[in-house]
Amino acid sequence: MNLRRLRQSRQIRGLTREIHVTPDSLMQPIFYAEGIRSREAVPGLPGVFRETADSLLKQTEADLKAGVSSVLLFGVPGEKRESGFSGEATARQISALKKAFGQDLLVAVDVCVCSYTTHGHCGVLNAEQDHVLNRESVDELAQLARVYAQAGADMVAPSDMMDGRIAAIRATLDQHNLERTLIMSYAAKFHSRFYGPFRAAADSAPKVREAASPAHAALKDRATYQIDPARPSDAFLSAQRDADEGADLLMVKPGLPYLDILARLSSEISLPWAVYEVSGEYAAIEALAEKGLIDPLRAHAESWIAFKRAGASLIITYGARNAREILKTLE
Ligand code: PBG
Repeated sequence: MNLRRLRQSRQIRGLTREIHVTPDSLMQPIFYAEGIRSREAVPGLPGVFRETADSLLKQTEADLKAGVSSVLLFGVPGEKRESGFSGEATARQISALKKAFGQDLLVAVDVCVCSYTTHGHCGVLNAEQDHVLNRESVDELAQLARVYAQAGADMVAPSDMMDGRIAAIRATLDQHNLERTLIMSYAAKFHSRFYGPFRAAADSAPKVREAASPAHAALKDRATYQIDPARPSDAFLSAQRDADEGADLLMVKPGLPYLDILARLSSEISLPWAVYEVSGEYAAIEALAEKGLIDPLRAHAESWIAFKRAGASLIITYGARNAREILKTLE
């Protein structure tokens, strides 16, 4: 069989390609940090910053010119609490973005409290401070989702992994006449080490590092709420449940180490699938490039093709703002 006949020129390769990545399927994560005087580079993620209110607007304007049409906003408030989060600082940036860019920009907002809490966990702790409470956490998340949606967010994206949050958020949004607000569930979110660079940007690492006592073991990391990498069936149950509770889009996160999950889930559940190319995956390519060991543009493009091949509709990536340059390498 002659397979090389179809590989012989740029033109025939282009004509026979099955997978295409276009800038309109990429979403750019952006960080707003309250109380910083000037924007700060995020270690490991070249071209990504913790923005001030001003720099957030300037960067987003540049992003739009570079072909970005959707962003995923992470807000980091200046003051941490244990409960009763207002979400105001984040809501102000949502309003500012919608006022400046209107329908030219889809604004998705991450809904979680790990950047809001003193302890860095994605929910509210019990009085003894030895575990994360589910119902109390869901109540907080639903209120935050409402505040963001009322500020103009087009989409809310809960990343906390509490049980029942999709149903609670949908009900709260509907009660407040926010039935057009989309919900993208981080449904298949694994307990991963690849979130490292992000946690510095979002100031969201769990702060009870080594459990103070065996009774506090549940708080040393996020293993009691995120999915165990060795439990693919848990990801399936979580995704099916979130679809049933009313999620409009579902997500697999991280990306490359979980392509098997993305391929299986996207063929079994017919909602649009997002994949999050997380900070550690993106930074790994950049770190190899810094050592002169890889061409980063081609490596990013290759990762994105892999996500599409595995069934992703949309890709959340720190490289969305460089998509033109990255995708040019595929021509
Ligand atoms: C917050 C959240 C995390 C990411 C997105 N939302 C980190 C975490 O769960 O610790 C990770 C994103 C990335 O690594 O790029 N719950």
